[in-house]
Amino acid sequence: MCGIVGYLGEKNTKKILLDGLKELEYRGYDSAGIAVLENGNFSYYKAVGKLVNLEDKTKDYETKGFAAGIGHTRWATHGKPTELNAHPHLGESSYVVHNGIIENYANLKKELIADGVTFLSQTDTEVIVHQFEKNLKSCATAFEAFGKTISELDGAYAVLLVTKSEADTIFFAKHGSPMLVGTNKEGEKYFASSDTPLIGHCQDVNYFEDGDFGYVTANDIAIFNNDGVKKEAVFSALSQNKLSAQKDGYRFFMEKEIYEQSDVISDTLMGRLSDEKIIFDELDKSLFDGINEIKLCACGTSYHAAMSASYLFERYSKIRTSLEIASEFRYRSPIMSKDTLFVVISQSGETADTLETLKMAKKAGLKTLVICNVDNSSMVRLADACILTRAGIEKGVASTKAFATQVTVFWMLSLFVAKLRNSLDTNEIARQISLLREIPTHVKVTDEMHERIKRLSKRYLHGHGFFFIGRDVFFPLALEGALKLKEISYLHAEGYPSGEMKHGPIALADPELFTIALLPEHLHYEKSKSNVEELSARDSTICVISAIEFDKADDFVQISTCQDYMLEFFEMMIVVQLLSLEISIRLGNDVDMPRNLAKSVTVE
Ligand code: G6P
Repeated sequence: MCGIVGYLGEKNTKKILLDGLKELEYRGYDSAGIAVLENGNFSYYKAVGKLVNLEDKTKDYETKGFAAGIGHTRWATHGKPTELNAHPHLGESSYVVHNGIIENYANLKKELIADGVTFLSQTDTEVIVHQFEKNLKSCATAFEAFGKTISELDGAYAVLLVTKSEADTIFFAKHGSPMLVGTNKEGEKYFASSDTPLIGHCQDVNYFEDGDFGYVTANDIAIFNNDGVKKEAVFSALSQNKLSAQKDGYRFFMEKEIYEQSDVISDTLMGRLSDEKIIFDELDKSLFDGINEIKLCACGTSYHAAMSASYLFERYSKIRTSLEIASEFRYRSPIMSKDTLFVVISQSGETADTLETLKMAKKAGLKTLVICNVDNSSMVRLADACILTRAGIEKGVASTKAFATQVTVFWMLSLFVAKLRNSLDTNEIARQISLLREIPTHVKVTDEMHERIKRLSKRYLHGHGFFFIGRDVFFPLALEGALKLKEISYLHAEGYPSGEMKHGPIALADPELFTIALLPEHLHYEKSKSNVEELSARDSTICVISAIEFDKADDFVQISTCQDYMLEFFEMMIVVQLLSLEISIRLGNDVDMPRNLAKSVTVE
């Protein structure tokens, strides 16, 4: 997602900021900007698109002496990727950059507008700089005003702020979004949202903890905790290897992305849950007027997320829902009626088959919605409405965190529609919202779980095939588990509905057929168990994933006890992702770049 850099010192500030931003490019962004305070004056530049555009704009700009600079690459969440929405954001005499989401920005903004403040952007970030300047009027120092501002923010943030009233200082705060500071013998101070921009400049760095805020000057790094108590910086050695720094020490991006799921799902949920309803500010409620059917259309992993959604929409929203594979839909002369909301799902927003179906739906006069991870992508630009999944850039070709956030959005959307259609009572919606808040905890990868799967994986490197089986939403999860495995291990795997095995595939059962059975405690447990027993009786090798121990399995992966089947879904998702990862690593494959596959398929 977004990237932050900051620099305080006497070297070439412009170059240091731009080079730092370049190191963060891999995270994905759609606009960028810098602001530099030198000799009491600000210079700032912003550009949409790639960093070359910002480089071009700054080509005649030079920094000469001591300066305080901040920079940012933005991955749009609130407001389109425009120059006005790009960071740094300006107050009267201060600039701010921010990663994360300020949940209470709408209330703060309302109050500031009532005070006469004019906002230039649609972002949540801009409230920070105006709130700071408002506080500056009543506080004794800029630091006091900054501390007060931070205490008024809800949500997740990593913030850097520079202000003319203390021109030799950079203020910082961190809560929920990563940030570190480094220094060196020359006393320069470098900030960034991940290690890479600091490599080559600093040997030792301090990783801020949640609640930390403070300031740096040429001589000082002053850090305070949540309660305003001063604390010492804790320096650790910075790895000097850039690629491994980008992977944060994980062996593959896919592994890193599996571990990131807890954080990105928190981002997906942020600002969208109140106690009794789902908030999608981006949706006009009239989108659902006159709609009697939802049609979901996608490819690959996104199709599996859509299939999970088809169960949720019918169960919770009580609306007829149909599902389409985009490449099939394109050529089968489909009947499209105007009471259908056409929903496309795509991580990239560029997949050619899906994009074409969106065009077909638009041409037929249907209302359209896209669930997408990339703002300003072709599908986002074309659809009538859009919900962004906020997974951040996904580098592994095998999709993990994008899938997790798509299912999270769909679960929320099914409740949003349920509220509109009065198909679930208020207590049930409130109960489900409290479950949604639990997802980030349930997808945290524990060392114990990862170790267990690592050990288990050595038994699943051969055989004549895998069947992933499940019922209801666990069927699309089974499909997704099988797709992950075949994409990166090159072993044959299929996903199947548990109850359908007896109608054919069970003929394949023998000890060399591996069955990965998803057995949720809270959804059709007994029925699914019988299906597994049928396979066990035919001597298939069985690995059961469940919260309840199962004695007829050869292997058993225990997930934690959950309150609801949807939380079991997310726990099992982690298990199947890790299992594919570990099997493929043991087979010596390049997990991030599997043979024959592309991350985004923009041709037919
Ligand atoms: C490619 C990728 C898959 C992905 C599919 C759909 O085939 O390899 O991982 O699920 O495209 O991509 P989209 O960006 O539309 O979700």
